[in-house]
Amino acid sequence: MRRQGLIRGAAQVVVVGVDARGMGLIRECLGTEAVLPTQSTPYHDALEVAQSARPNVVITGFDEDFEEAVRLGPLLQSQVPGLQLVAISEKTDPERIRAAMRAGYREYVVLPEDSALLRQAVRESHSSGASVEDQGQLIAVVGSKGGVGTTLIATNLAAELSPVQRVCVVDLDFSMGDVAAFLDLQPKSSFQDLLASLSRLDQRMLTGSVTVHPSKVHVLAQPTELIADEMVSGDQVLQVLTVVADTYQIVIADCGCRIEEATLTTTAVADLVLLVVNPDVPSVKNAWRRLNLMERQGFDKSLVRLIVNKWRKGGELTLADIESSLGVPVAATVAYDDETCLAAINSGRILREIDKKSPTARDIGAMVSLITEGATRVESGPSEKKPFSWLFK
Ligand SMILES: Nc1ncnc2c1ncn2[C@@H]1O[C@H](COP(=O)(O)OP(=O)(O)OP(=O)(O)O)[C@@H](O)[C@H]1O
Ligand SMILES: [Mg+2]
Repeated sequence: MRRQGLIRGAAQVVVVGVDARGMGLIRECLGTEAVLPTQSTPYHDALEVAQSARPNVVITGFDEDFEEAVRLGPLLQSQVPGLQLVAISEKTDPERIRAAMRAGYREYVVLPEDSALLRQAVRESHSSGASVEDQGQLIAVVGSKGGVGTTLIATNLAAELSPVQRVCVVDLDFSMGDVAAFLDLQPKSSFQDLLASLSRLDQRMLTGSVTVHPSKVHVLAQPTELIADEMVSGDQVLQVLTVVADTYQIVIADCGCRIEEATLTTTAVADLVLLVVNPDVPSVKNAWRRLNLMERQGFDKSLVRLIVNKWRKGGELTLADIESSLGVPVAATVAYDDETCLAAINSGRILREIDKKSPTARDIGAMVSLITEGATRVESGPSEKKPFSWLFK
């Protein structure tokens, strides 16, 4: 998962209750070793900011409001697991140092004298716990329109990866999602339960909320009750995905085809976006609109892998038509095989369990290399060159 604004190898820091001079000293001391905020957060906003930013370290000023700084210590510790707390002051005061230690602050630093101490605390905070390098890959599976096969691909791709990787499928298609049904699972908890306890969300709570399929695919299901997409903010989705990516090696998010905050946020931080199209005009046209939107939002198009599902030769469009219309190469084709697909969906099983030799299962199996080897095109995907670009202009 790509955390926006995060420099690889640098700790993320939130600063609370520090004036401009203090901010300057912190910046001077930490340099490029940390991702620093542009300004200090007021004490009363600190918990909320720490919960959403999930920093490695919170540096709290002890001079502006000593009592607030002490009160914040245990609060941050209990609500944001794994956080390192550092107290900062302009003067050494044994009474205050003891109060800071009792409140859970690991270090009490006076700048610029204790610069080395602050640098060390930040460095160590970053090496403990899940770092960005430890985080799983986030793969967003996005449909160009309804029914193109987003869920079928998300679930079966996860099943192909699960023998060797810890994989979790997150159903982000809140109103229409059906990942659990595709795998014949009866989830006891869902995404919505995690949203209700976001402030306490950690890896243990997550693993208690997923449902496990015999293929070893873990599923974070969509809410049992219908919820409006707009009720879930991008920030909430980000918090959940961060914990999922800290827990699993591969996270496959079934984003469905609707454009709303949760899925826009997911694609913004995804390592790869699998854009699923069918070889027909409405589907490709919608993919074109989606790509344009992503481009307008500054999304890096090189992270998109175009998947042509329900592919069969002699259909409405050729692969060359699709590529030249979208300006993106086809990364993989997935063969049309309605008999096996329907049998799998109706019995809640994965394609390979129905028919090991199904061409659809074979093609989804080949897609694994897009994720594990960084391939940009699956070898079997033929590509004919026959421009047809006027269709979508
Ligand atoms: N490769 C394929 N060959 C034949 N049929 C397929 C293929 N892929 C998907 N289908 C069929 O298309 C239908 C829709 O599949 P699926 O539910 O995965 O799509 P979706 O994009 O997730 O749809 P929704 O928008 O409803 O979430 C299913 O009936 C499925 O059997
Ligand atoms: Mg679906």
